[in-house]
Amino acid sequence: MNNHPAIRKGAVAVITGAAVGIGYAIARRVASEGMNVVLFDRDPTALDGATKALLNEFPEVKLLVIKGDVTSESDLHQLYEKSCEFGEVSLLVNNAAIIKGAGPWDGVSKWRTLMDINFWSVLTLQQLFVETMFSQKGPAAIVNLGSKEGITTRPGNAAYSVSKAAVKVLTEQLAHELREKVGDRISAHLLIPGYTFTPMNFPGMTNDTQKPDSPWTADQVADRLIGGMGQGDFYIFCEDNESNWALDQRRMQWSADDMIQNRPALSRWHKEYAEQFADFIADVADK
Ligand SMILES: NC(=O)c1ccc[n+]([C@@H]2O[C@H](COP(=O)([O-])OP(=O)(O)OC[C@H]3O[C@@H](n4cnc5c(N)ncnc54)[C@H](O)[C@@H]3O)[C@@H](O)[C@H]2O)c1
Repeated sequence: MNNHPAIRKGAVAVITGAAVGIGYAIARRVASEGMNVVLFDRDPTALDGATKALLNEFPEVKLLVIKGDVTSESDLHQLYEKSCEFGEVSLLVNNAAIIKGAGPWDGVSKWRTLMDINFWSVLTLQQLFVETMFSQKGPAAIVNLGSKEGITTRPGNAAYSVSKAAVKVLTEQLAHELREKVGDRISAHLLIPGYTFTPMNFPGMTNDTQKPDSPWTADQVADRLIGGMGQGDFYIFCEDNESNWALDQRRMQWSADDMIQNRPALSRWHKEYAEQFADFIADVADK
């Protein structure tokens, strides 16, 4: 299968939250395609480790390493300016996010912190880089990181779910507007990882930490991204070793049916619907 034309040797990929986890795996994957990579992260130690590991594996790779925080407008502008000086930016991956959220009536300041990282930085960078992509002649792509928490919106972390639902809608709107304006020269994609073996889920993990069976590796997610983009997919779903694609489809169907059938909100987690939901997924749950 051919790669998406934005994934090309010598062009620049800009990745936020690139020091560990899925961001690092994407950096590694695009470096293996000969892209020049901008690594942006707020964690200097992890950035240093990522830089060394990438240069060790890909001695030819051209890296631009920027320590910064996606909540800082000036850091984002600096990232934009330095990236454009570095070369033709054909890929932006808005990956940085935090999971520690807040419930519906928790303080607004907690919500603001999370939304600054998970949503406003995505919008800001998307707006900065899309203008440059318009002015360039070559193909380009913007990948935003969604989550199943932003689609079926499991209860327990309302702020995170809201941020990922916002990123989903933003990216859908972006994809449509790009299609209308430039056809398929610049595309947008929503990457939707499943449960993944990263520091987000395993804080403090090291190279020696044993991966449990359930999560996918971050490399599997990065491979799925490159494969999905190559096929021209907008929604790039990842299953994991607990949830297969048929089960994910059923869960999304149930979620949409809450509105269509006028059921209570989040009825999947409502005790009066437990049996009905179990029946609904019974034939796909163990596949
Ligand atoms: N891990 C999963 O199971 C999973 C599932 C669905 C979606 N996602 C999404 O995938 C993306 C990557 O997740 P991950 O698991 O690799 O996360 P992670 O926590 O393992 O790594 C996130 C990286 O982002 C950086 N970062 C966080 N806040 C930042 C800030 N304010 N400024 C700059 N850098 C910052 C961190 O330093 C870290 O290097 C996120 O958008 C996450 O919501 C992850």
